[in-house]
Amino acid sequence: METGSANPQSSLTNRLNLGWLGRMLSSSVGRKFVMGVTGLLLCGFLIGHLAGNLLLFGGPEAFDAYATWIHNQEFLPLIELGLLLLFLAHIYLAVVVTIENRAARSKRYAVKHSKQAGMPPLPPHNWMFVSGAIVLGFVLLHLADLRIGLRPDLAFPEWDEHHPRMYEMTVAVLSNPLSRVVYIIGTIFLGLHLSHGAASAFRSLGWDHPKYTPTIRLMSWLFAIVIGVGFCSLPILIPELAAVAPPEAKIVTPAEP
Ligand code: HEM
Repeated sequence: METGSANPQSSLTNRLNLGWLGRMLSSSVGRKFVMGVTGLLLCGFLIGHLAGNLLLFGGPEAFDAYATWIHNQEFLPLIELGLLLLFLAHIYLAVVVTIENRAARSKRYAVKHSKQAGMPPLPPHNWMFVSGAIVLGFVLLHLADLRIGLRPDLAFPEWDEHHPRMYEMTVAVLSNPLSRVVYIIGTIFLGLHLSHGAASAFRSLGWDHPKYTPTIRLMSWLFAIVIGVGFCSLPILIPELAAVAPPEAKIVTPAEP
């Protein structure tokens, strides 16, 4: 394990009184720890996001009321900034840790190459990188779809910050055949990423004990199934349900004076 030391005068982290973070990120164990923390915080976001999205099953009124509530939160920009920083930190550390793991593995290869011959083509850390990259691609498309609204092919209703017609927008995206496939594949890979990632995050935090590890693994799998199946159910079921009861039929527009 390397023990890097930051220059106290010139380091931005020290000027911001984040020296502890700089010290932590200068060791491979510290980097894995911070990656585990960011991963678990992102899991917290997924629980909240899924709970909110399940309101799509309640129809336009329930979902739009929830979207209106979120958009009127004073601290929303701060929370969004925090979320962005979490994603960026997690992705940056994933790249660094993968490079380090590869370097360590190629050293081991050099020592006992013959024993590695029967290994599966993608060991866990490579698999985490590939599944994470697919989830990242999905999230970027998803933000373009539903957060930024960059879909010239879909006719979105007029955006009103205080009364967002988010249900209509979401159903429009999920009903588009190509988007539907992308959302199904993206959420399946999210589940697969979590099935290993959640347990691995706990290990990075030092929670590795023969007595508790099997339970942590089982809980991680259950979590991955709930989140994966929960998100995946939306592109599969919502377009069908919305086709039976089109959103336009339920949206109550105020009468003209
Ligand atoms: C598959 C079903 C999903 C649906 C229907 C869905 C729906 C939505 C909607 C409607 C928004 C806009 C919220 C707003 O502006 O008020 C949103 C934002 C967002 N979604 Fe999803 N989402 C899904 C899956 C996911 C997944 C799996 C992830 C992450 C892995 C994710 C990450 C995000 C992020 C980061 C935002 C931006 C949050 C913000 O800026 O407030 N979503 N989603």
